[in-house]
This record gives sequence, C-alpha cells and structure tokens, in this order.
Amino acid sequence: MTTITRGGIVTGWGISVPDKVVTNEDLSVTMDTTDAWIRERTGIRERRIGGTTSQLAIEAGVAALEKAGRRPDEIDGVVLATTTPDQIIPGTSATVQDGIGVPSGAFDVNAACSGFVYALTVAHGLLAIGAERLLVIGSETLSRITDWDDRSVAVLVGDGAGAVVLEAVDGPGQLLSWKLGADGSLRHLLKCDHGGFLYMDGREIFRKAVRVVVESAEQAIAEAGLTVDDIDLMVPHQANLRIISAACQRLGIPEDKAVVVIDRYGNTSSASIPLALVDALETGRLEEGHHVLLTGFGGGMTWASAVLRWGG
Ligand code: UT7
Repeated sequence: MTTITRGGIVTGWGISVPDKVVTNEDLSVTMDTTDAWIRERTGIRERRIGGTTSQLAIEAGVAALEKAGRRPDEIDGVVLATTTPDQIIPGTSATVQDGIGVPSGAFDVNAACSGFVYALTVAHGLLAIGAERLLVIGSETLSRITDWDDRSVAVLVGDGAGAVVLEAVDGPGQLLSWKLGADGSLRHLLKCDHGGFLYMDGREIFRKAVRVVVESAEQAIAEAGLTVDDIDLMVPHQANLRIISAACQRLGIPEDKAVVVIDRYGNTSSASIPLALVDALETGRLEEGHHVLLTGFGGGMTWASAVLRWGG
C-alpha cells in the first residue's frame, strides 16, 4: 500500500471545450466515412474543435480556481499534461502560468493520453515535499496535428481541457494508490514527428490498451487495499467505447460505473480523464467516500491507474 503522510484533496474543478461542434455527419461530407461506422466502432457522435492548448488550459484552470474559491496567487505550481503544446519551446504551462497569473513554477508533463494521471501523481509528490496548492490540468488540441484527409485518425480526435485544484492535507488525502507504466519499445504504435501528423496503429493499440488498463487497474486497486467491488466509479481514458467496455468486462466492473464522455468530445488525449471526472462531479455521480478508479493509456506506450477516495 502507498504510504502518504501528506496527501492531497481536489477542492475545485473546471473544463473548457471549443464552441465549434463537428458531428460525424459533418465529417462524412469531406471523407469516406459514415456516422454509423464511427458510432459503432468508437462510440463517438461529435467532437469539439478549435482554440489553442494554452487558451483551453487557462479557461479550465480559471474555472477550477473559482470552484475552489482560490485566487491565482494562492497556487504553488502549475502541472500541465499535454501532448499538443502550443510550441516546442517554451512549455505551454508557462503561457498558462502567465495567463492565469500564478506566481509559481510551471511545467509540462507529456505522457500522451496517460498524462493527466501522471500529472496528478507528480503533483501529489510535490504536496508531500511542501507545496500547499497546485493546479493540475490536462489540455489538448489534437485537431492541430491531425491530417483531416486521414479517416483512420480524423474521426477519433477532439480538443478540450479539464483542470483540478489539488490542496495539501495532513494524512493520506484522497490518493490511495497509483501505478505508472511505460513500454517504449511500442513507441512506433502511436506517434507524431516534428511538423507531421498523428499516426496510430489502431488495432494493435486497442489490443495492448485493454491489457495494460486491466493490469494496472488491478494493481492499483490491490495496492489501495480494495477489491474491484469497492470501486464506485471508473473514470477511464476516452479513446474508444469498445475499449472501455472490454476493460470493464475483464475487470468485473459493471459498465454503468464507467464515466463516458467520448460521445460528446471524442478522444482528447490527456484532457479526456479530467473532462470525464468533471462530468461525473457536475452530474452528482461522485459522492463523499466513493472509491474512484482513474485509468488511462496512450502513446509511448504509457499507462497509468490511480485510486482515490473522494471527499475529505
Ligand atoms: O488514445 C489512445 C490511442 N488510440 C486508441 O486507443 C485507438 C485504439 N484503436 C481503436 O479505437 C480502433 O482500432 C479504431 C477505431 C482506430 C479502428 O477500429 P477497428 O475496429 O480496429 O477498425 P479497423 O482498423 O480494423 O478497420 C476496419 C475497417 C477497415 O476496412 P476493411 O479493411 O475491413 O475493408 C477500415 O479501412 O474499417 C475501415 N475504416 C473505416 N471505415 C469508415 C477505418 N476507418 C474508417 C472510418 N470510416 N473512419
């Protein structure tokens, strides 16, 4: 079991998504695809497209601060998960730090679609060594690295951001366990070269994703001293509804415990878990004492699972 003497609790949350809605029907006008194929093979109905990674991150961050009742000058650091930075240098977190007016350190975490769980875990490490309050954000504009003539990728992606304010508490806080994994020998399965477009071997990622999600989730649940029946809510990376269903089935978690927002947002990489988490919070699905499993996977390959006990 993870021993945490100074933990963290989420005290605020927020999201930002572009106004522009692109439906499957819209895509079927410009490429050889159909609404039926996209819905049946992925669960996606529409996605939001537009903005920049920093702009969406700033909006989500400001909303999270407002919800927490905190001013920017009360924040000790910005941890931004993104795989679509505005520029190669500087880190997009610098633009976010400046845009929100947080007088503190700021850095990017790139673990592709696992990025938010990585960022949340790293943030807990900072709390353990003295940080009081952090802004943890996942923000992406995958549309900017997408070839809109490549139907194998274009139908999947969306843009958006989700953020949480994480505050230090004495004692363990919400994070009961975490499991971060990577296998760089699989990095060819999902990649984007400088100036290039997003490429993925969808079928192979699908197969590997289910395995690593299940394994890391089982390890995180066991390390939290829980069993799968103790999990009240699962907040998975939103890459494909069929991956979420397969993972639920193999884990033995009823599908109605999984939060699904892929129908509205598509795959937003490291923004997908916070978008889903905030959706669960805003719709009253997350209550004090609930055990929440966050689990994701993505390019690298990387994967990450964490178990939280909500509230505190
Ligand atoms: O965020 C983490 C990274 N990404 C993922 O996790 C993605 C994981 N993979 C997937 O979600 C799925 O593999 C995809 C959604 C990408 C593809 O679904 P699939 O069921 O694996 O389809 P497929 O690639 O095996 O293709 C089946 C057929 C092919 O036609 P043939 O060869 O059977 O004639 C494709 O050419 O579907 C065709 N196809 C399409 N048809 C209409 C592929 N893309 C499309 C499309 N519209 N957009």
